[in-house]
Amino acid sequence: MKCLVITYGCKQNENDSERIKGVLASMDGEFCDDEKHADIIVFNTCNVREGAANRLYGNIGALKALKQRNPGLIIVVCGCVTAEVDVQQKFKQSYPYVDIVIGTNSLHKLKDMLNEVLQKNMHTQDNSHTITKNKHAAIYALDEDFDIHEGIPQVRDCKFSATVPIMSGCNNFCTYCIVPYVRGRERSREAQNIIDEVTALSNDGCIEVTLLGQNVNSYKCPSTNINFATLLRRVNQVKGIKRIRFISSHPKDFNPEVISAMAECDNICPQLHLPFQSGSDIILNDMNRKYTRTDYINLITMARQAIPGLTITSDCIVGFPTETQADFDQTLDLIKTLKLDMLFTFIYSRRSGTKAAKYAFAMSKDEIKRNFDELVKTQNEISNQINQKMVGNVVEVLVEGVSKKNEAMYSGRTPGGKIVNFKADKLDSVDNAASLIGTLVNTKIISANTFAFIGEQV
Ligand code: SAM
Ligand code: SF4
Ligand code: F3S
Repeated sequence: MKCLVITYGCKQNENDSERIKGVLASMDGEFCDDEKHADIIVFNTCNVREGAANRLYGNIGALKALKQRNPGLIIVVCGCVTAEVDVQQKFKQSYPYVDIVIGTNSLHKLKDMLNEVLQKNMHTQDNSHTITKNKHAAIYALDEDFDIHEGIPQVRDCKFSATVPIMSGCNNFCTYCIVPYVRGRERSREAQNIIDEVTALSNDGCIEVTLLGQNVNSYKCPSTNINFATLLRRVNQVKGIKRIRFISSHPKDFNPEVISAMAECDNICPQLHLPFQSGSDIILNDMNRKYTRTDYINLITMARQAIPGLTITSDCIVGFPTETQADFDQTLDLIKTLKLDMLFTFIYSRRSGTKAAKYAFAMSKDEIKRNFDELVKTQNEISNQINQKMVGNVVEVLVEGVSKKNEAMYSGRTPGGKIVNFKADKLDSVDNAASLIGTLVNTKIISANTFAFIGEQV
């Protein structure tokens, strides 16, 4: 049984896809890259911006012809679009050839559902000696509860670096964001389960873990009440784990206790992703973010003082409905003042069901696009200037593979999470290349640009 899992969206979804692959592998599934050869195609979907959802529906639509040629093909849709209101209606009407629609918190039901469809397909085949069309209606497992379901098998994409969810869902209801509606209320995993998972990963040769949550700073162990800073210190004690990262932090909950844990624990990387979203207090209030521009500046100042060489990245939305030119100018001013390492910039996308979806726009699409371009250009210059200062430094790189752009080079990441491409001493044979991947190598930075460094092994 050949399986193809297509993943959209964030690291949480990538981690869910590893679980989906775990379920498929437990049913003797093998993985392929080509939909024409697949017996099962799974779409793990994202709903955060309109473009992501539209792309998905285009791609599912394109499978209709494939399903007509191969009626035994099983199509599964899971992830964040499955929480849309009227999702059953939508699939029945527009995508009747989809076999399974399953919610993000229902993956523990996937194996039974796949067995049910396989049985039905066999039955259809027995009766007609040939499968002519998908005779059964799709089956649905939309999320009914938001309990944590431990123990779903997992096929990891990478042996030396892994993501570990510490919590699911979100309670913050930022007025632009669909995530609380599609991922449900926030719930934290038991700290012991997290530590056991990280320990098992280390025993299996993993040296880097990224702890995942929509707002990791509000982590609270259900049975022991330990908070995120304490959890970080516990993960730091797991032998063999050399790099610990976490995403995302929320400025309303990121605090001095977490900064101290980062400063004092050797294995926690000097990397912080702290989305500010807007530099204007008016817009932060309209977004329901619950911190001010000054709060944000104070946090960044405190973190930089405590953690030398800290890499800071952030998310920012341009064109929130109530944003005026004066608000945007505040955002531009904030990035010029703080000089963060990198910014993930998004044009506001209206998400039906969220509070901001009802707000009128203060600026035109053209004005928003012009501001967006200016923000990107300004940040790129800042990122480039920061990176130039690294030239001449020796940095430790976790080698992730061979560079996509230049096969004669390795590619890896610094402790701060920046990309270094470097020509290694030994990159003269495939065997040697393989031997460095997943190891820590010191490199000297010889040149830099906005997004990456060129280095050489020292
Ligand atoms: N929980 C994280 C946080 O609060 O920072 C981020 C979650 S969200 C998946 C990632 C980013 O997408 C957000 O930080 C925000 O910048 C962006 N985003 C979310 N909803 C959006 C929308 N409706 N339009 C544009 N960007 C959006
Ligand atoms: Fe969305 Fe806000 Fe929750 Fe992040 S904190 S997932 S932006 S609602
Ligand atoms: Fe997208 Fe869902 Fe992640 S909406 S960004 S896949 S939580």
